[in-house]
Amino acid sequence: MKQNLILIGFMGSGKSTVGRELAKVLEMNFVDTDHYIENKEKMKIKEIFSLKGEKYFREIEAKYVKEISKMNNTVISTGGGVVASDTNIMLLKKRGFVIYLDCTVECIYKRVSRRNTRPLLNDVKDLHSRIVELLNERVDNYKKYMDDKVYIDSNTNIWDTVDKIKKM
Ligand code: S3P
Repeated sequence: MKQNLILIGFMGSGKSTVGRELAKVLEMNFVDTDHYIENKEKMKIKEIFSLKGEKYFREIEAKYVKEISKMNNTVISTGGGVVASDTNIMLLKKRGFVIYLDCTVECIYKRVSRRNTRPLLNDVKDLHSRIVELLNERVDNYKKYMDDKVYIDSNTNIWDTVDKIKKM
């Protein structure tokens, strides 16, 4: 395996939870791009979107991904939109092994509707259709940049996922 482990996938696919546990068992550092951005900007992601807009968020996301890509021995959980920029994901991939958490739409829908704090999925008329639409826009990039993937559905627990990744 290359130096870092990079988790990509749609919102709600479990990147942060899996990443944190994976880092513990592999004795690696852990960073979550969204938390990194929130710490640096001293604002929650949803505040950044509502006060400054998505364009600004994408600009700072790119800036911080660049910083994060220089880290070593780190499990990096990415925001679901990081792969929308080829530059972002290429920077990360250069120094790491990219794992796609391939989560079913039903599972994403269940998790996101339980507690919807995601600006891109808030205030939408039809949450299920919105998820399908956004996932369709991104799935090619998730597949293009992954080195390996883990399939996840509503019956998958996080330890199964951590175990599968450990064995890659
Ligand atoms: C986004 C995903 C979010 C966060 C922001 C935008 C996206 O991260 O970066 O709300 O564009 O898919 P999670 O995937 O961790 O929810």
